Amino acid sequence: MLTMSFDYINALLKKPTKRTPIWVMRQAGRYLPEYRATRAKAGDFLTLCKSPELACEVTMQPIDRFDLDAAILFSDILTIPDAMNLGLYFSEGEGPKFSNPIQSLADIEKLPTDINNELTYVFDGVSTIKKALNNRVPLIGFSGSPWTLATYMIEGGSSKTFANTKKMLFNNPDALHLLLEKLAQSVIAYLNQQILSGANSVMIFDTWGGVLSKQNYLDFSLNYMAKIVKSVKAQHPTIPITLFSKNGGKHLSHIADTGCDGIGIDWTIELAQAQQQVGDKVAIQGNLDPAVLYATPEVIEREVKKVLSQFKGDTGHIFNLGHGITPDVDPENMKVLVDCVHKFSSR
Ligand code: CP3
Repeated sequence: MLTMSFDYINALLKKPTKRTPIWVMRQAGRYLPEYRATRAKAGDFLTLCKSPELACEVTMQPIDRFDLDAAILFSDILTIPDAMNLGLYFSEGEGPKFSNPIQSLADIEKLPTDINNELTYVFDGVSTIKKALNNRVPLIGFSGSPWTLATYMIEGGSSKTFANTKKMLFNNPDALHLLLEKLAQSVIAYLNQQILSGANSVMIFDTWGGVLSKQNYLDFSLNYMAKIVKSVKAQHPTIPITLFSKNGGKHLSHIADTGCDGIGIDWTIELAQAQQQVGDKVAIQGNLDPAVLYATPEVIEREVKKVLSQFKGDTGHIFNLGHGITPDVDPENMKVLVDCVHKFSSR
């Protein structure tokens, strides 16, 4: 239970805040020299994720360096397919890969869903981070959405066209629904256990929801996130849940109807337009273009003010980038961003 009042949690619950809270997707990452040093010590990214002590160390690095309003568990969305025995590995410069991708209904039928025992390193990471944070800021737990996880599992890694996943969607929708249902069950158990281990809010990353047509987005992505929200809320009614569908700006009113507390948006829609779609049902997280962090401090300040002024009202806004911070950003610019958000939103 939280004993203090945090702007990040209050904003999600649309209660008054002292300033607009900010955290940044991938805030612990390669743009920080201390992250690169810990990753080198671990040997590789996956070993880093699987060591609770080292995952805690990198989670804390941006918290120690910047005045951020929340920490996010250092992990990856692909821990679930890894625990389902798909053989996750990261090849340098190419991103994630699976040695046993899903190729048939039989592959889906044999996937285990009761996998929390294979994920104890994540829950140990959460409790280790909670101790290290000592209530300085709240901790965000997370998972991938079933749809986004399915794309990696079926394509065997990252993809530009999602050809195999869409083939299954159109030729064998029942198989895809079975996969999504199994993933939803695993995600529910995974998020519940992160919460029991100390996560103060949870977020679902639906990085690839935006590549679907409207009806397919509703049926194959949002439908399963809605089930997760319902189930996790039933177990943990006070824990705020944020849903983020990249490129999902056209679907916000449907996302708000799931019962989630916050919606993440990218920079292709303005905050004011997003608010028009959702009214004051939910809080909104976003939405600076990550490329702004390549600009000068003056430009960063100007762009921060623009985003802040687009949001109408005193609470319900969590500042973030519209997607993860990129590895070649100067950490000094991250400091400018965080300090500008606080300075220009002080109430
Ligand atoms: O936000 C945070 O700081 C928490 C940590 C976090 C990571 N991945 C660490 C990471 C989170 C929340 C994720 C989620 C994630 N992972 C998503 C959804 C969010 C998004 O970015 O859209 C996705 C699609 C993945 C899968 C994944 N993991 C990819 C495609 C890659 C390669 C990306 C790249 O930039 O190389 C990863 C690796 C990864 N996950 C890194 C980090 C810090 C880089 C690994 C390294 O150190 O080399």
